[in-house]
Amino acid sequence: MFITLEGGEGSGKSVQVEFIKNFFLEKKKEVLVTKEPGGTDIGRKLRKILLSPESKNLSHMAELLLYLADRSQHLKEVIIPALKSNKIVICDRFFDSTVVYQSFVRGLDLNLINTIHNAILEGIEPDLTILLDVDPKIGLLRAKAQIQNGQRSVSESRFEDETLKFHQKVREGFLALSKKNDKRFKVVDASKTIEEVQNDIISILKNIVK
Ligand code: TMP
Repeated sequence: MFITLEGGEGSGKSVQVEFIKNFFLEKKKEVLVTKEPGGTDIGRKLRKILLSPESKNLSHMAELLLYLADRSQHLKEVIIPALKSNKIVICDRFFDSTVVYQSFVRGLDLNLINTIHNAILEGIEPDLTILLDVDPKIGLLRAKAQIQNGQRSVSESRFEDETLKFHQKVREGFLALSKKNDKRFKVVDASKTIEEVQNDIISILKNIVK
């Protein structure tokens, strides 16, 4: 089973990924937790380039191709082998982030993105995508607080430096995508407390692991 988590900055994905992992571990399932960008050694190098504020001159197309390079390596090295050995794979961001950030927000050609995805995905699609939806006014405050208290490195803050308008467009993009793919997506209100969000996630997971 392949589960992905999506959402804007400060939506709480990392905490909830751990929570979902523990949910399955308690059920004695084999779980693999991973993330994009940066789920492989090569990907971690790409992540540094992609998220560093020093990369402010990165063109939109170069940015897209680096995310796709990260994904291609990640699928081959980590995701596909884990799914083949029947593990539950939980991935913090996946292809929906590219559709939203690079196409819906940055304006790159969705057909091009779909074509490259078809070439690298080998038919893999998440069985479930949990969208942690939060107003970016709240999300950005949380994300910036994490940078200030050292929970997140300043060297990964290129997207946090984008405008509120940019992040509002990200939210709009994810919500539009969730409506288009309403069988795969479950939207959770991530403005609630961590415990409330976890309860919502438990209800979703209980429904799929009957
Ligand atoms: P995160 O791992 O802390 O969520 O940060 C990853 C950042 O990269 C986040 O701002 C969203 C962005 N991103 C894209 O723009 N496109 C992508 O395909 C992915 C996976 C992430």
